[in-house]
Amino acid sequence: MASATARIIDGKAIAQTIRDELAAEVRSLAESCGKAPGLAVVIVGNRKDSQTYVAMKRKACAEVGIRSFNVDLPEDVSEAGVIQKVQELNSNPEVHGILVQLPLPKHINEENVLSEIIIQKDVDGFHPLNIGKLAMKGRDPLFLPCTPKGCLELLLRSGISIKGKRAVVVGRSNIVGLPMALLLLKEDATVTVVHSRTADPERIIREADIVIAAAGQAMMIKGDWIKPGAAVIDVGTNAVNDPSRKSGYRLVGDVDFDEAVKVAGWLTPVPGGVGPMTVAMLLKNTVEGAKRQLTQ
Ligand code: GUN
Repeated sequence: MASATARIIDGKAIAQTIRDELAAEVRSLAESCGKAPGLAVVIVGNRKDSQTYVAMKRKACAEVGIRSFNVDLPEDVSEAGVIQKVQELNSNPEVHGILVQLPLPKHINEENVLSEIIIQKDVDGFHPLNIGKLAMKGRDPLFLPCTPKGCLELLLRSGISIKGKRAVVVGRSNIVGLPMALLLLKEDATVTVVHSRTADPERIIREADIVIAAAGQAMMIKGDWIKPGAAVIDVGTNAVNDPSRKSGYRLVGDVDFDEAVKVAGWLTPVPGGVGPMTVAMLLKNTVEGAKRQLTQ
């Protein structure tokens, strides 16, 4: 049998198209009301990975004309100190979106902080009210979490139909797995969530027309776990040692790409798949939020 090859979904190119669309929207907003969308990005402490993500987000804002408000707090700031910052940003009319980079240091309760962000500015979509509305039939959240929204956009822009399909989400985090499952359910898929306690995950994943891999386990999903022709979206970003690289490491997904590409119908690469879409969706949420706040 000739070996099949999946269509590679180019997240980087799709994200660039979306960023161009957003830059045009920001320009027309400036012409119509003389204001720019504003995004506050709050980071606590010195985690290397978080600092990289935050720098990327701030740079991306500048490129589409979003003003970014940088709030850098020390590792030992109190929970009350972070909450006070959030409240200041809530009442600043030039800030239309607020993002608190996660994870927060252990002494700070994430839920207490995220619940303080007013839902009109919750561009990450992590407020319990936004997640609750996402879970309920007939209700619409003000914002969808960026990574799940980016995965959905990749499916839609690749012409992959969702309605009535079997979708399996691997992972149940608050940031990706859980909202992804709820979003696919809203899109009329039949959704199963596979997680660390699931018995026989391969068997369940093999039934899926759509696989969203968000377990955070390098190359966990093998080629023979995938139904031929399935659409596979790989959210994983795992660093593995690679002495042949100058940096000493490389990034791999939760899916074994070399195996999956021979079986899947569609597949996202790592890097260059979901990652750039997460940033593009953050920008999109910020522009949508600004429009709602400036034109209400
Ligand atoms: N940490 C990892 N992913 C995310 C994200 O999408 N938003 C925030 N705020 N923190 C994160």
